[in-house]
Amino acid sequence: SVAPLLTKLKRDCATPLPVLQRVVDAMSQAMRTGLAADGGSGLPMIPTYVHHLPTGNEKGLFYALDLGGTNFRVLRVQLGGKEDRVISTEFDQVSIPQKLMSGTSEELFDFIALGLAKFAQKEGDEFHITPGRKREIGFTFSFPVKQTSIDSGILIKWTKGFAVTGTAGRDVVACLNEAMERQGLDMRVSALVNDAVGTLAGAEYWDNDVSVAVILGTGTNACYIEQINAIPKLKGYHSPSDRMIISTEWGAFSNGLPLTEYDSDMDAASINPGEQIFEKTIAGMYLGEIARRVLLKMAQVDGLFGNSVPQKLSKPFTIGTPDLCSMQQDQSDDLQAVGSILYGIAGIEANLNARRTVVEVCDTIIERGGRLAGAGIVGILQKMEQDSKGIVLGKRTVVAVDGGLYENYPQYRAYLRDSVTELLGIEHANNLVIEHSKDGSGIGAALLAASNSMYKHDA
Ligand code: BG6
Ligand code: GLC
Repeated sequence: SVAPLLTKLKRDCATPLPVLQRVVDAMSQAMRTGLAADGGSGLPMIPTYVHHLPTGNEKGLFYALDLGGTNFRVLRVQLGGKEDRVISTEFDQVSIPQKLMSGTSEELFDFIALGLAKFAQKEGDEFHITPGRKREIGFTFSFPVKQTSIDSGILIKWTKGFAVTGTAGRDVVACLNEAMERQGLDMRVSALVNDAVGTLAGAEYWDNDVSVAVILGTGTNACYIEQINAIPKLKGYHSPSDRMIISTEWGAFSNGLPLTEYDSDMDAASINPGEQIFEKTIAGMYLGEIARRVLLKMAQVDGLFGNSVPQKLSKPFTIGTPDLCSMQQDQSDDLQAVGSILYGIAGIEANLNARRTVVEVCDTIIERGGRLAGAGIVGILQKMEQDSKGIVLGKRTVVAVDGGLYENYPQYRAYLRDSVTELLGIEHANNLVIEHSKDGSGIGAALLAASNSMYKHDA
């Protein structure tokens, strides 16, 4: 019987309130440590040099590039200022070919620049640019970057399965500029932003109460608005404002998490062992793979799927998080859909008991992920609340969330919300709006390109 393995899994993944609270406290502590200095046990807490969120007055034609989620996206946005806001917007998207994810830096950036060149050629008459001006780009680059200014930054490392050679340690804007030159494309990057930062800018444009943005997709990250005097590691920097957006890179967090043997095995087999542990516990790239490892063990040790172990089940990443999601939507008594999904992805023939077990495994992994994501959000709010002496949660506060996992997985969303409510208590939780901000990061990047435009002081 698989009962002992299932019981152990549930015990190891359990997230009762004290465990969640421990994660909240550790998260806010890791934020403080990371704000004090780089390296060590703190979070990266990356200064973004974004001081001002969009005002609504942004005007003109801007492009945005968005690299790092499931899809690579190119956008064109015509901004019309206070009255008209976003007049028109168009985009193209393609998934990144697998081989580019482990190729060379030149190959990847050539692919991006070519995509941009093709898209820019199709600019229609409804878009206008002042004659003589370069087209400007907001570049959303969803990896950890050490920003050196709003429009430059050095790639610290790849995450989310990317293993491109020759980019780490380089300025990614320079990489893009070189590729654009190879394509004969004369455009200028005015803002380099993380996807969480783009999402915050895009969401705040419509709602001033947004002060935190979270990505729950292939990977995960969160950013928020911080007071300059609470960032000791920026000592000596002459800030034009008393605030700055900080990108936490919370995917790197690891303290106090309830982890299992499956997590440590997956981590050991990954291309970045020991890194991005929070991300590996809560984000879309990994949840299906954790479930696969559990099911494989149940098949090997307890014959979950009969006498033989389905061959494909031994192959890493055979089961994706969207598969878990589809299986969890099956509300029927005989779990027919679960059966056909298992058969479809790995030729697995599962009887009703096995299907029930599979659904319980999925739910256990998703519950842990959603609840820990909720604890992460409360960790950020708790840090802001402590510093502001109670003004954050005493009023309406909006957390903007984007990413395929949050968007498409209702159970994950519900677990996240439950955990936030348990942690904050009903009164504070009522002031907190967690809102899905779809594809805000592209427009957000365009808005930040506009506020940082080289022509912004021209008439
Ligand atoms: C998108 C953002 O909406 O969400 C991207 O524009 C971001 O920048 C992405 O990376 C995350 O989504 P996923 O689910 O594709 O990783
Ligand atoms: C990964 C990246 C981070 C990004 C997140 C969400 O964690 O390191 O920069 O924001 O994924 O896409």
